[in-house]
Amino acid sequence: MITLALSKGRIFDETLPLLAAAGITVTEDPEKSRKLILATNQPHVRVVLVRASDVPTYVEYGGADLGVAGKDSLIEHGGQGLFRPLDLQIAKCRVSVAVRNGFDYQEAVTQGSRLKVATKYTSIARDFFSAKGVHVDMIKLYGSMELAPLTGMADAIVDLVSTGNTLKANDLVEVEHIMDISSHLVVNQAALKLKQAGLKPIIDAFASAVPQD
Ligand code: PRP
Ligand code: MG
Repeated sequence: MITLALSKGRIFDETLPLLAAAGITVTEDPEKSRKLILATNQPHVRVVLVRASDVPTYVEYGGADLGVAGKDSLIEHGGQGLFRPLDLQIAKCRVSVAVRNGFDYQEAVTQGSRLKVATKYTSIARDFFSAKGVHVDMIKLYGSMELAPLTGMADAIVDLVSTGNTLKANDLVEVEHIMDISSHLVVNQAALKLKQAGLKPIIDAFASAVPQD
């Protein structure tokens, strides 16, 4: 049995064409059922649905043999125990710093003020601000980061931006572009050796389906 870990939403949707290239069709719709293990047309391949930030952990500990994880999740996880053969070039977005419209971020940075930063991405945020020499008080959140500056809890957020609609709708502006994000294929290192016969065709099919740049 080969187990693939995916998260619902963009990563799931954009992985389907890659699976199709490997001859794999998911036979259940995750939006229509509460099932967490989905069958495919291939009896020896199944998909498990996990939180995006848990994909690296499932693959690291062998709960899944392979998975599709955003670069953001991989950085926060640390990437230990994972073989990372491919940038799949899907679910592209960026990690940015955003503040309330009207907050003078540049001034705060130039003045050397301590910045209150709310984020789910504490490793990325810590590395970014420490490289800039900005002192931060980090507030860890698990979602809806946009609320933190609006409620006065933080000066800035570090979050994913895709269309920019969420920032706009909440009167926030992007002031720093920290990094570009896309999703990567990750494979459990032991499985790579023990289940090579099952995994290699999938990895190869994914590789040929990804646009090369
Ligand atoms: C993500 C991200 C932003 C938004 C960006 O949130 O954290 O809030 O999407 O997308 P946009 O630029 O296209 O508007 P998500 O909806 O996944 O929820 P969460 O932050 O609560 O996990
Ligand atoms: Mg969000």
